Amino acid sequence: MERPHNSSIFPFDERRDLIVLQTKEEAIAFAAEHWEHTALRSIQRRGRFAVALSGGSTPKPVYEIICRSKKIDWSKVWLFWSDERAVSPDSSESNYHMVMEAGFQHLSIPKAQIFRMRAEKEIQKGAKMYEEAIHTHLVPSLFDLVLLGLGEDGHTASLFPETQALEETTRLVRENSTPKGERMTLTFPCIQQSSHVTFLIFGKAKASIVREVLGAPLISSWPASRVGTPENKALWILDSEAAQKIFK
Ligand code: 6PG
Repeated sequence: MERPHNSSIFPFDERRDLIVLQTKEEAIAFAAEHWEHTALRSIQRRGRFAVALSGGSTPKPVYEIICRSKKIDWSKVWLFWSDERAVSPDSSESNYHMVMEAGFQHLSIPKAQIFRMRAEKEIQKGAKMYEEAIHTHLVPSLFDLVLLGLGEDGHTASLFPETQALEETTRLVRENSTPKGERMTLTFPCIQQSSHVTFLIFGKAKASIVREVLGAPLISSWPASRVGTPENKALWILDSEAAQKIFK
């Protein structure tokens, strides 16, 4: 496939769109703008924006920009997470903690519209409670946007290679025993039914796995290869370092 000459969204295949920004800073800025645009459009069309935020280190600078938006009516935002570690909410390992520290703690999102994944104890019960919250507040539609990252082993959210949650076909949320410990995660059925799914992937350390996942069949040893459908294409937002092996 020819690399597009300018930074615009282009179809990679029938399930994924890509955009490659020259620098990490441009990719961060684009990702924040895309989040804001998706939020405004969702609030305009359906009166709410239900978003599942990804964890890890990549998205924090994007969240810091998003929190400075002057256009979003935060009272219409419903905040969820794509996954969580089995740690307390004030742990530096917590995805909830990272998001709040990035600035979401200062926003006027009603507390009743912030849904922390309670993964630190009784994780199975916590996963069931999280699923109930999605059914109560979102179903029949699910998320307006799910943000995801990509691990160097091809995991996304907490859907790690060769773990049980990969095989889940009905539950929207579940506990998962992973090489990085006990996790709570959205499942493929949940992610695939959401209106928009966006991967944020920056840096040369991800270049090899980006090429592997994009080149893999739908079902592969890389869980992230399953994300994206012709009806709800996944958007991959990359900087040129992360994309450097795609077009080789
Ligand atoms: C987590 C994330 C996980 C993350 C990838 C990429 O809880 O760690 O949800 O899926 O997105 O591991 O992590 P980095 O952004 O730190 O590379």
